[in-house]
Order: sequence, then C-alpha cells, then structure tokens
Amino acid sequence: MGAKRILTLNVNGDDYEVVCAPNTTLLEALREKAFLTGTKRGCDLGACGACTVLMDGEAILSCITLAVEAEGRSIRTIEGVSDGGELSPLQQAFVDHGALQCGFCSPGFIMSATELLAENPHPERAEIQRRLAGNLCRCTGYVKIVEAVEAVAQGAEGGAR
Ligand code: FES
Ligand code: FES
Repeated sequence: MGAKRILTLNVNGDDYEVVCAPNTTLLEALREKAFLTGTKRGCDLGACGACTVLMDGEAILSCITLAVEAEGRSIRTIEGVSDGGELSPLQQAFVDHGALQCGFCSPGFIMSATELLAENPHPERAEIQRRLAGNLCRCTGYVKIVEAVEAVAQGAEGGAR
C-alpha cells in the first residue's frame, strides 16, 4: 500500500495537515482527518455527486480523487460557502425554494451550482439542468433544486460567491 505521509491540504483558505496513505481519497481526508463532514459520502463510486467539492474552482468528485492529488491545490467545500455563518445567496435560495428535503445531496448540488454560477452568472434553465445532471437526489427534489439555482441566476447580481 505504501507508507503514510503528512499532506498539507488547503481547504477553504486554511491549511490542514493530515496523515494519509497513498490510496486515501480526498473525501476520506476531508471527512475523517480534517473533520469537515459537510461533504457527503453517497455511492463512493463516482456516480452520485454527493461528494462534490471544488478544486482550484473546478467541481470534482472527492470520492474518486486521491488526497495526494489535492496537495498544493485550493479546495473549497460546503463549509467554505457561507460567510461567517451567513448563508450564501445560493444556500438561501435552496431554503427559500424548499430545495432541501433530507439534505444529504445538498452540499454536492450547491458545490456544482457554485461552479456553474462562477463561470456563468446567468445560466439558462437548460444549462442548469445539464450542469447538475451528475448530482443525484434520492428525495427527487430536482424541480425545486433547479428553481433555486435559477432564482439566483435571474437575480440582479447572479453568480455565486
Ligand atoms: Fe462520490 Fe457518490 S460519493 S460520487
Ligand atoms: Fe434528500 Fe436530495 S434532499 S437526497
């Protein structure tokens, strides 16, 4: 398996020193070593999107990304989306539009939508649906999730922070 070593992961602007084996996934490092449990483990197979985080601004699946690949990169998780306890406009829209049921899929959806809105502040509905296609919601709340993202996209400022 190879020797464990200490990695320094930059997550939400803070450095975390974590002891990882070569095969430790980024998801495991975030949840079990940095104790940032907002990122969820769903399928653990790269199929559900629950574990989505941003790496240098790009949405990636942390369950199929090795922790060593994240060293020297900038990782953003759901914990880094709110600002001092204040929900981001996108998080607030999820609340306002009832886009949360059990909430398990929500961090992944919000990270995918955050990537989209950073790239394109005012995406059309079809673009939102296309970009969220890799995220699954077992509660099947897709209509309200898309409406929440659309509400931010149609706002005066659009975008995500
Ligand atoms: Fe990573 Fe499902 S837990 S894609
Ligand atoms: Fe329950 Fe999406 S809100 S899985």
